[in-house]
Amino acid sequence: MISRMTLAEKIGQMRQLSLGEDSLSDHVTDEIRAGRTGSVLNVVCADEVRELQRIAVEESRLGIPLLFGRDVIHGFKTVMPIPLGQAATWNPELVKAAARVSALEAAACGVNWTFAPMIDVSRDARWGRIAESFGEDTYLTSQMGVAAIRGYQGENLAATGSIAACAKHFAGYGASEAGRDYATTNIPENELRNVYLGPFRAAIDAGVSSVMASFSDLNGVPASANDFLMTRVLRHEWQFDGIAVSDFNSISQLCVHGIAEDDKEAACLAVTAGIDVEMAGDTYVSFLEQLIEEERIEESKIDAMVANVLRVKFRLGLFEAPAAEEDDLAARVSDDALRVAKEAALQSVVLLKNEGAVLPLAADRLASVAVIGPLADAPYEQLGTWIFDGDPGLSVDCLSGIRKLVGDRVDVNYVKALANSRSRQVDNVTEVMETVGQCDVAILFLGEESILSGEAHSRADINLPGAQAELVKLVRQAGKPLIAVILAGRPLTLSNIVDDLDAILYAWHPGAMGGEAIAELLFGQASPSGKLPATFPRMVGQVPIYYNHKNTGKPPIAGEILHIDDIEEQAPQTSYGMFSFHLDAGSTPLFPFGHGLSYAEFRYTGIRASADRLAIGDSLTLSVELSNAGQVRAEEVVQLYVRDLVGSVTRPVRELKGFRRVMLDPGQTVTVQFELRSQDLAFYGRDNRCTVEPGKFRAWIGGSSTAELECEFQVIARD
Ligand code: GLC
Repeated sequence: MISRMTLAEKIGQMRQLSLGEDSLSDHVTDEIRAGRTGSVLNVVCADEVRELQRIAVEESRLGIPLLFGRDVIHGFKTVMPIPLGQAATWNPELVKAAARVSALEAAACGVNWTFAPMIDVSRDARWGRIAESFGEDTYLTSQMGVAAIRGYQGENLAATGSIAACAKHFAGYGASEAGRDYATTNIPENELRNVYLGPFRAAIDAGVSSVMASFSDLNGVPASANDFLMTRVLRHEWQFDGIAVSDFNSISQLCVHGIAEDDKEAACLAVTAGIDVEMAGDTYVSFLEQLIEEERIEESKIDAMVANVLRVKFRLGLFEAPAAEEDDLAARVSDDALRVAKEAALQSVVLLKNEGAVLPLAADRLASVAVIGPLADAPYEQLGTWIFDGDPGLSVDCLSGIRKLVGDRVDVNYVKALANSRSRQVDNVTEVMETVGQCDVAILFLGEESILSGEAHSRADINLPGAQAELVKLVRQAGKPLIAVILAGRPLTLSNIVDDLDAILYAWHPGAMGGEAIAELLFGQASPSGKLPATFPRMVGQVPIYYNHKNTGKPPIAGEILHIDDIEEQAPQTSYGMFSFHLDAGSTPLFPFGHGLSYAEFRYTGIRASADRLAIGDSLTLSVELSNAGQVRAEEVVQLYVRDLVGSVTRPVRELKGFRRVMLDPGQTVTVQFELRSQDLAFYGRDNRCTVEPGKFRAWIGGSSTAELECEFQVIARD
């Protein structure tokens, strides 16, 4: 195919046109007819897609079909929980199912390439895009990213309903300074390899069709010009053979970064680095021919990049079936979507606190509930970020969910109290207090509007916005059992309200079926089973704070943490311990990674390793007895953590190496086993090579990253 292409046609395949209202304009159709574009972005009307594809296939010289890209991030018509919420399910099969139904819905509208999953590890809740991520852990992000890719791409990429996936944003975007979006990232190669690159390696091993360069400057070289990332790691080390696509106009932005004099230099840097497709920019079509004439770029390099693009098109089966027949898909779109969205919402919610087992509420023992707050009746806000194609009409808000579930038995009284999540003034205080005063229990619906997280929406103060904390203090005065359901796109700092609340359900942005799911969790139709995919700081000054931190040479000593209020006047400089903590926050988070309570009561006993030595190349089994000492059937996410006590570089105090959801009836006990291969313990050492180093290891199994049941084993070199 390439040997028959002109240079202009080759360069055309490297250009992605961003379309909108103009998708069928003469300008666009002329570009396609002339073979000057290989993919388009943001066309989501099946008829328009079919027409554009017809022009490409029938009216261009070589008839090469187009790719149609769209950000199908967490649902399409049917909006799923945000990816951070999906991560909280710790259920890869469910994440795969959510991606699958999203692919079917998107494919029905002509999309054949999604720019998802976003697999940037993020340890900074200030960053707006943590909402799109699977959280702070490399292993959890890897598992969820691979699950999403398998959902989008299906077993057969050429099958109707399968769409090409895109691992993004390569790489290290989650380490943006101060959590400020698009900000500089400085990540030493060892940290880059041990923390941020893992999910991308897993994505490529799982067959992801494309990788997107991040906007951000990595160690002085923005990803769109970063040959270490885009060529040495991606192509030479990992043998990736799919498409490397820029982010939106990120090649021209190399001039803004100040690493390219002008668009021609930017194009030269990007091609040299290995960016196959320029998304929404014209530097390639404007300057590549010149750069080849000037012998600054080899045409053979262009051929290899075009081959990456054509390879994905062949794998998608576009040359045989350029556009899916709509009726073939439409029927399948509606079947599963809402069921999956509901299940994902149910499993994503994390019970952070449940003082005195105030939850679940018993509808048959309640006469009335007060539903208060700006996010109770907010069907649009609960959908979260990246929902361009979402159908708000499908969204069941929390108030409706409660009324639908128990409205026939319980008097549901609603007061919004704040116009929106940012309002700085509580409206109608009297009405709020009277309503709560007349009810048996108060349920507050708090959090962030959709716009307060997502791309370019970072926050420096991650408390509840506006006057929501004041609303909590106000309602607390009524002295009724007080529950908060928090809908947000990030971990929030809750220290200023946590003691005022008897129970907290953290629902992220739960998507279309959030209202039904939350009502069922509140009234005990189901037990919360979510676990935190990201650490909850006590205060924003602790950020970055994450569970798999290094030990330092002066780790905090439990029990010796001093609080600033307890310091005696003129206390001698060394009188309060010399270790790593904050005087006004201590050294621990408010809620740790992996935390999540249940209506059941899970107990762990009898951890053991199948051997106390593990030869490199072998594996061992770690197991524990898990019991449900509670009164209800519920699922627990059992987590395995490991620590490498001594390494050629310092190693995290714990690292997640396995997890599994286990359903238990009341009184039931099961043995939960994890197979640990020596390869699972490999890391990039002092020489930045990935190896397993012999030595002593510790393992824990439990219901969060603070699991206490532990055992030890020794990794030994193979004799
Ligand atoms: C955006 C995002 C990227 C997205 C792309 C296309 O700026 O950074 O994640 O896929 O542009 O919408």
